[in-house]
Amino acid sequence: MLIVCESEQSEIMASKKSGELLEWDDMQKMKYSWNVACEGMRLTAPLQGTFREAITDFTYAGFTIPKGWKIYWTVSTRNKNSEYFPDPEKFDPSRYEGNGPVPFTYVPFGGGPRLCPGKEYARLAMLTFLKWETVLPNEKIIGDMMPTPEQGLPIRLQLH
Ligand code: HEM
Repeated sequence: MLIVCESEQSEIMASKKSGELLEWDDMQKMKYSWNVACEGMRLTAPLQGTFREAITDFTYAGFTIPKGWKIYWTVSTRNKNSEYFPDPEKFDPSRYEGNGPVPFTYVPFGGGPRLCPGKEYARLAMLTFLKWETVLPNEKIIGDMMPTPEQGLPIRLQLH
């Protein structure tokens, strides 16, 4: 897996002249690397979920939700639904190949009109800094709405 990611990244690096910077088109070529990042986000959602307010009374799975109630929807339960993600605890980047997951089943960035506006920026940042290692491999992660590393997640980047 790491080897496929590395070869994808090395291929892009090899196509660059000395001093030539990464461009948008290069990011589009990092397909496998993005699949790996997506699978990481599926197994550990960076944002666990968020709130909505019912704008009308409705019934879901036998429960009646009155208008005005606050609803909390979770990314993690959706992304680990075995109906859409067979063997949901397995790390398998091939899930995103072809047409990928059914729409609105893979939702680390939410979906619909409130879809995360930072999605593409986050993708860019993740793919640009893909290769790093944690300085504190056993750093404690605090569950405070978002998984938050206790020491601020110091990392070591490698210069290419
Ligand atoms: C891995 C990185 C990120 C993840 C997983 C993530 C995830 C999410 C999720 C799940 C939502 C809720 C969507 C919904 O309610 O349907 C959201 C909303 C939002 N995100 Fe992100 N996000 C990320 C990065 C960013 C970045 C980098 C920015 C800004 C530069 C950003 C800005 C926002 C804003 C402003 C909203 C609120 C949108 C609204 O309510 O209309 N996010 N994000």
